[in-house]
Amino acid sequence: MSKRNIVGIVDARGRGATLARMYERSPHVDGVVVIPGNDMIQAMARKPTEVDTRIALTDVDAISQKFHELGVTLASVDQDIALSAGVSDRLREDGIPTIGPSRAASQIEWSKAEARRLGTHAGIQQPEYAVFRGSEDAALKYLDTHGDEGFAIKADGLAEGKGVFVAKTPEEARRAIQEIRQRHPQAARTFLVESLATGEEFSTFFASDGVPEREHIKILGHAQDHKREGNNDTGENTGGMGCSTPPRLMTPTLELFVENEIQKMMKELNKEGKPYEGIGYYGGMFDPANKVINNIEWNARWGDPEVQVVAPGITSDMYELAMAIVNKNLDKYKLTTDSLSRVVVAGASRGYPRNYDSVKGKQIFGLDEVMEMDGIELYGAGVKVVDGKHFASGGRLFYIVGEGVDIVAAREKAYGAMARVFVEGNNLHYRTDIGWRDVKRLRDKGY
Ligand code: GLY
Repeated sequence: MSKRNIVGIVDARGRGATLARMYERSPHVDGVVVIPGNDMIQAMARKPTEVDTRIALTDVDAISQKFHELGVTLASVDQDIALSAGVSDRLREDGIPTIGPSRAASQIEWSKAEARRLGTHAGIQQPEYAVFRGSEDAALKYLDTHGDEGFAIKADGLAEGKGVFVAKTPEEARRAIQEIRQRHPQAARTFLVESLATGEEFSTFFASDGVPEREHIKILGHAQDHKREGNNDTGENTGGMGCSTPPRLMTPTLELFVENEIQKMMKELNKEGKPYEGIGYYGGMFDPANKVINNIEWNARWGDPEVQVVAPGITSDMYELAMAIVNKNLDKYKLTTDSLSRVVVAGASRGYPRNYDSVKGKQIFGLDEVMEMDGIELYGAGVKVVDGKHFASGGRLFYIVGEGVDIVAAREKAYGAMARVFVEGNNLHYRTDIGWRDVKRLRDKGY
């Protein structure tokens, strides 16, 4: 009997839903397990799929036990808190081929101070920064002599994508330091003050098999996230309200620069005995006026919702990509991508990211219709499915992806589908300007 390949994904969100669908596409894959996953993953699966929403992302024992019970032959650890809890290390120790960096290597995400220290050693272009622990006094003094363009105040630890505050003046920075420490007492016990990098933000996704040579690092694609809750980048930071790919600012020169920076980081990690085996991304800020690119963050996994637009553009086999990471022969993997544009829009509960408790349990209408639309993909996140009906159960509820020959066509598709959805009591919130930079570039400059 030939071996059955079961992929086990560790993720709770839309990213887990997306990766389940990407792996399902591979003829090598017979089934998928997502821990904890969410209701819509199973409801939309095309191959045998299991989720277990009772298992916590950090419960290493339960995850390993479940994967063994279900015969998982390849594991993919994709959520930051699972990586920081050492889930990848444990699954490897327990004999399951796994992609997802070790706890030590994923420190580039779960400790911003560590990422900066490594960046300094590796010679990566990054903003001037200082790390503060305990009392705020030293940080307040630092503000008086730094930050001509303003400041980014960052929690050192994980804060669900909400651990960065931008401040234009030392006064705003003082308030930001107090607020970040109140909101994230654990994650911001250690905090960073950085000079504000100005320009346009982008993310570059890569795969690495732990061998720090250029051929062993693959650039998978690029995206532009829209992190603020409201149009025109207003309101609070969220986990991401939508993104587009490919960002038109990404030229071959820029890509080469970023590829070099990623390689420097992979080498540095290797030097410290922390080979990086998995997917990750470099978050950059490009200032076209001054031709400066700064690294603003590292993440040790796919972005969410960036994965929804970048991963479907990979036309080569996803399972083979993962196995090339496991077998440290990524240099032999032939990566191919398509040239379509994609836009993803997050459908969120009204009040997200602050207070959306009252939306929990409200019915969501229209998702069935969206699932049937051409050129559209739908991924669930905070949706509960009861008797085939959909109900809100989180902040970011679902994601709609539109694809087309250019950004305008992709946006039209995504927003055309979003218009079919509503949440009982007018409780659906989404941004209507995802991809606006590239729409403007296309209209103004024709590219
Ligand atoms: N969308 C940003 C993130 O995944 O962290």
